[in-house]
Amino acid sequence: MSSATIIDGKAFAAKLRHRVAAGVASFVAITQRKPGLAVVLVGDDPASQVYVGSKKKATVEAGMNSFEHRLPATVSQEELIALVETLNADDAVDGILVQLPLPAHIDDKAVIAAIDPAKDVDGFHVVNAGRLAVGEDAFVPCTPLGCLMLLKEYVGDLSGKNAVVIGRSNIVGKPMAQLLLAENCTVTIAHSRTQDLPDVVRRADIVVAAVGRAEMVTADWLKPGAVVIDVGINRLPPQAGETKGRLVGDVAFDDALAHAGAITPVPGGVGPMTIACLLRNNLVAAHRRAGLEVPQGI
Ligand code: GUN
Repeated sequence: MSSATIIDGKAFAAKLRHRVAAGVASFVAITQRKPGLAVVLVGDDPASQVYVGSKKKATVEAGMNSFEHRLPATVSQEELIALVETLNADDAVDGILVQLPLPAHIDDKAVIAAIDPAKDVDGFHVVNAGRLAVGEDAFVPCTPLGCLMLLKEYVGDLSGKNAVVIGRSNIVGKPMAQLLLAENCTVTIAHSRTQDLPDVVRRADIVVAAVGRAEMVTADWLKPGAVVIDVGINRLPPQAGETKGRLVGDVAFDDALAHAGAITPVPGGVGPMTIACLLRNNLVAAHRRAGLEVPQGI
């Protein structure tokens, strides 16, 4: 039986991070300052703490300044927005990332709206979402940007391909669909109300799964040779002898190997690309703010 190519997101992300680090070095040589990324973490959600720690480490390794702001879960929306406004006005800060989710008493939309779109390296501000939709230069959310880079690397020209994106979130599904449309794919966005989802997915040359349900997409849903990008990170309940359950994606990976043409593993697929793209976006923000041309190939 044929077996899919395993898309090595970790290796591709390492190469992207090297290119970003080289871009940072030349930015520093020209401007005599390091690009800076401010990360704001509210509360003590364990997963968010791990993500923020990884972002900080990668930022510093790329030669950029990391400014971390940790606020208690009890902080008011006004105080959080006041911090964002301070960061907007700080010249040492090129990019601002407010880690989501935020506590329930804070309106994410109001906080994201307060970020200067020129520093919105997450690409969540409606100005950036709108620019992406109309085909203007925009900051693109890091996860879908990383998925697109992997697809272009492994598929090449995406023009005319049938792409199915499963999930319609503002962070992944919708921007992913916009990016694929801009590459001339025929795009379907499927979601929890989609009828006959397996049949819809079976028509896809490219499948991007971003639903957050462990191993939902099974091998029989896949057209032979389909390229599968798995955005899901789900922890299974621990089995006998395990202290923690295994991490799996939204796709039943082992079975899909026999049907797919190429597939990203979990972990080691999309995850490493998200952080590498954040560094990339921050370097782009620094160049634009300094009035410099953005380096090619990042
Ligand atoms: N929470 C989970 N993913 C992300 C992300 O990409 N950016 C932010 N700000 N928060 C997140």
